[in-house]
Amino acid sequence: MNLNIGCIAGDGIGPEIVKEARKVLDKVADKYGHSITYTDILMGGASIDVHGVPLTEEAIALAKASDAVLMGSIGGDTTTSPWYRLEPSKRPEAGLLAIRKALNLFANLRPAVLYEELAGACPLKEEISAKGFDMMIMRELTGGLYFGERKTIEENGVKKAIDTLSYDENEIRRIAVKAFDIAMKRNKKVTSVDKANVLDSSRLWRAVVNEVAKDYPEVTLEHMLVDNCAMQLVKDPAQFDVILTENMFGDILSDEASMVTGSIGMLASASLNDSRFGLYEPSHGSAPDIAGKGIANPIATILSASMMLRYTFDLDKEADAIDRAVKQVLKEGYRTGDIMAEGCTQVGTEKMGDLICEGI
Ligand code: IPM
Ligand code: MG
Repeated sequence: MNLNIGCIAGDGIGPEIVKEARKVLDKVADKYGHSITYTDILMGGASIDVHGVPLTEEAIALAKASDAVLMGSIGGDTTTSPWYRLEPSKRPEAGLLAIRKALNLFANLRPAVLYEELAGACPLKEEISAKGFDMMIMRELTGGLYFGERKTIEENGVKKAIDTLSYDENEIRRIAVKAFDIAMKRNKKVTSVDKANVLDSSRLWRAVVNEVAKDYPEVTLEHMLVDNCAMQLVKDPAQFDVILTENMFGDILSDEASMVTGSIGMLASASLNDSRFGLYEPSHGSAPDIAGKGIANPIATILSASMMLRYTFDLDKEADAIDRAVKQVLKEGYRTGDIMAEGCTQVGTEKMGDLICEGI
């Protein structure tokens, strides 16, 4: 199979970690008889430096022409980088929002897994972490507050800012269907998170999710209010399988869940549309403070490449090989600085990539 992959290396540690993920993909392709064509795409600060904007039409066209896009990270230090002296619509993050919308990437999958080997990094009490957890946060990514009408006005000399939270039933249905489909391949439980005690958008969300659930009799559905979910994530994360939620709640809860794993450098993510196309990126940011030092953890990006093989290309065997190699390297005691523990061997970005390649 020929895999046509767009590559957004991006900013900060992005280029270093994408390099390692490509190395691992090349190793897999070599072993399993595939070929890969990479197309480099500029986005974020890297695009601002060249084109003055964080995403060009040409970049969108290149992404659309790919089967999938692998991304590192975008953005810089918000207090010192000149990118943040530009108006908000020209900053690096605007490129990310624009590509999500342009490619209709409405389904954001963010796994939060407590790796047995890294259980010590979990900030929860041992009696909680001992149960382990493995959840998939499904965040709606192209609607809600992020894309609703937004304006700042002045009324009778008083400044006023307005953001709009709107969802139609089709937007809710398509992400709900994806969540139930994914639950069917996992532990068959969906927790739909909303604020139905206050918001109309949440009441519609709940009604549509209930309708979709009728087509999945094997899946257990529960509804949870978002404030309660924030508590449950630290109290008993093992109760979750698939968490289904709207854009803003998903942004917040996925950061919380990743923190609870204690190893955000390990967490991958996928943003999918209704074809097989996806944009795959680590859940962490661009870490400008350690950029270029060769110490960033490439594992989240490598695992994102594995998700790409699984979800866009249906290459489960190949994806399993990457996941297994990552576990093996951790078992052998190799760690990057962010997940370093006593008695382990600390390695840099490139060495970690090499070790995972050896394990393929
Ligand atoms: C994320 C990030 C983005 C978001 C920012 C950078 C706009 O926090 O991917 O979670 O809020 O979606
Ligand atoms: Mg976020």
